[in-house]
Amino acid sequence: MSPAAAPAPTAGLVIAVDGPAAAGKGTLARTLAQHFGIDHLDTGALYRAVGLRVLRVGGDPADPTVSEQQARALATVDLRHPDLRSMQAAEAASLVATHLGVRAALLEFQRRFATHPPGGKGAVLDGRDIGTVVLPDAPHKIFVTASPAARAKRRWLELPEASRPALAEIEAQVRQRDARDQERAIAPLKPAPDAFLLDTTDLDIDAAFAAAKAYLSRR
Ligand code: DC
Repeated sequence: MSPAAAPAPTAGLVIAVDGPAAAGKGTLARTLAQHFGIDHLDTGALYRAVGLRVLRVGGDPADPTVSEQQARALATVDLRHPDLRSMQAAEAASLVATHLGVRAALLEFQRRFATHPPGGKGAVLDGRDIGTVVLPDAPHKIFVTASPAARAKRRWLELPEASRPALAEIEAQVRQRDARDQERAIAPLKPAPDAFLLDTTDLDIDAAFAAAKAYLSRR
């Protein structure tokens, strides 16, 4: 995951998609990438993989030193870890993401993906700070949101029925993670001033995609 020097800007389509947990930004980003035939980077997966690495070495994700060490050692294979989508990985990700050293270690990789996408045509990056910090000059920015109750319900439905905790417990976790992501000092979750705000509380995937496509075609 080592960064290369001085990436030149790509002429391709670059779209920044940000938003809180379970707002639908990952699905939207994947769908946009497929539609336009461009690459997709789920930047949350980078933070999740760092969080899991920290736990694997017996470290505390709240510790900036071990977290930065693990961010600098991140390898592509870490992104295929079977526990990447677990609640444990999400919690650890949200903690390691508060450290400046971790964010700095992951920044160049994300920028290089946008400027030199593997397929060479363009890229959609989704995360929390793509439009504000990673790609502040991105020509297209979408901030996807939904009410905490709607997002908790989506997360809850994704969990295996047999091991589902109470919906209220998931909603409390969603709100706690929102607060941590929004209130952290470095690169907090917030819409870029020039982002298109897309509230998916009452929208299904097709309707959210149609709204995003309409925004892109207006530009
Ligand atoms: O999108 P996700 O649930 O996979 O993200 C996991 C955590 O990673 C999230 O709580 C905050 C952090 N994150 C971040 O700080 N910046 C990003 N660009 C992406 C994710």
